[in-house]
Amino acid sequence: MVSETPLPISNRNRRKPVITRTDQMLKSAAFRHHRTLEQPPVNYKTLGKTGIDVSEFALGCWPFAGGKVWGPQDEDVSIATVHAALDKGINFFDTAEGYDDDSHSEEVLGRALTGRLTEAVIATKISPPHLVPGLVDEACEASLRRLRTDTIDLYQIHWPNHNVPIEDSLEALIKLRDAGKIRSIGVCNFGVNDLSSALKSADIVSDQLPYNLLWRPIEVEISPKCLENNVGLICYSPLAQGLLTGRYDSPDDVPDGLSRSRLFSNDRPLANHGEDGCETETFDAIASVMKIADRLGEHPAEIALSWVRSRPGITTLLVGARSPEELDLNIPAFEYELPDGIADELEAVTDPVKLKLGSNADMWNGDNRMR
Ligand SMILES: NC(=O)c1ccc[n+]([C@@H]2O[C@H](COP(=O)([O-])OP(=O)(O)OC[C@H]3O[C@@H](n4cnc5c(N)ncnc54)[C@H](OP(=O)(O)O)[C@@H]3O)[C@@H](O)[C@H]2O)c1
Repeated sequence: MVSETPLPISNRNRRKPVITRTDQMLKSAAFRHHRTLEQPPVNYKTLGKTGIDVSEFALGCWPFAGGKVWGPQDEDVSIATVHAALDKGINFFDTAEGYDDDSHSEEVLGRALTGRLTEAVIATKISPPHLVPGLVDEACEASLRRLRTDTIDLYQIHWPNHNVPIEDSLEALIKLRDAGKIRSIGVCNFGVNDLSSALKSADIVSDQLPYNLLWRPIEVEISPKCLENNVGLICYSPLAQGLLTGRYDSPDDVPDGLSRSRLFSNDRPLANHGEDGCETETFDAIASVMKIADRLGEHPAEIALSWVRSRPGITTLLVGARSPEELDLNIPAFEYELPDGIADELEAVTDPVKLKLGSNADMWNGDNRMR
C-alpha cells in the first residue's frame, strides 16, 4: 500500500475529447506535449514505508537492452528517453541485471543518469541464480558499477528461486541495506505463499507483477495480499505489451516474441505453456476496449493505463516507452480520470479473459512459477 502525496494538478479529467481515432495519437501528443512543458502531469506516491516518493508512471528500461527481445535500439534514443522522462517529472526507472544477457539496460541507464542521478529513483533486480547468499554482494556491486551509483533505491528479487531458502537470500539483502548499498527491498512475480514467507524475514516494500485489462489474475489473491500487508504494487506490461494500443487487428498480426504469452495458443512458435490460450476472448475484449475508447474520444492506450492506475494499491505503472515520442503518447493517461461507470464496463468486457486465465498470474508459463 502507498500513501499519496498531494496531487500536483487540481482539476483532472478536463481535456477536450478528440472525436475520431484517426491520427489521434499524434494530435494528442502534440497537444499534451505543450501542456507538459507548463505543468508535469505526473503524480507521486510513497514507496511502502521508505519515504521515497516515486512517480506513478515509471520508465521500464527493458527495451534499452535491444537484442533478441526488443530488436535494434539506438543508445542515444534510450538516453534521450530517460532525459525526456526526467524533464516531464518521471523520477522512477526500472531495470534489471537480467536485461539482457549482458545487463546492457543497466549500463545505458547508468550512462543516461550521469549528472542527473539526484533526480532519479533507481529500481533494479537481482536474477534468481544470484540469490545464493555468497553471490548476492557480487551481483549488487556489479549493478552499482553499471548504474554508476553508490546506492540502489529499490533492489528487487526478479523471480523467486525455490531452490534457495528465501530467508537466506533476504538475510544477504538486509546486510546490503544495512551497509547502505541498497535503500529498500522489493520482490517481483511473488505469489501469496512466496510473499508470506518473505514478509516473515524482511520488510518487503513492493511486489512487481503483470497487470492490465487483459491480464487480471493478480486480482484473485495476490493483490488483496499486497493490500493487506502494505506492499506496493508495481505493475508491468500495463499495455499488455502493446496489445491494448490497438496496433494488432488479429492474433496473426502479433509477432512471435509477444505471442508466447498464455493469451495465445501453444501452437505459436515461441510458446511454451502447454495451454490452448484464449485468442478469441482476447481479441473480442480488445475490440470492446477500442469501442469504449472511441466512444470516449480517447486513445485505447490512455484508457488502458488509466484503468490500471485507478485500481487499489497501485504504486506505479511501468510503461515500456523506448523513445521520447512514445513517452509523450502515454503521459496523458496520468492526468486522465476514467468517467464514472467506465471501469466497470471495461472489467465486464474483459471478464471472459480473466475467467479463462484463472489465478495463475505467470504470463508465460502454464506451470505457475508465482506460488
Ligand atoms: N519484473 C518482470 O518480470 C518484468 C516483466 C516484464 C516487464 N517488466 C518491466 O516492465 C516494463 C514494461 O513492460 P512492457 O514493455 O511489457 O510494457 P507495456 O507498456 O505493456 O508494453 C510496451 C509495448 O507497448 C508498445 N507501446 C507503448 N506505448 C505505445 C503507444 N502509445 N502506442 C503503440 N504502442 C505502444 C511498445 O512498442 P514498441 O516496441 O514499438 O516500443 C512496447 O512494445 C519493462 O520495460 C520492464 O522494465 C518487468
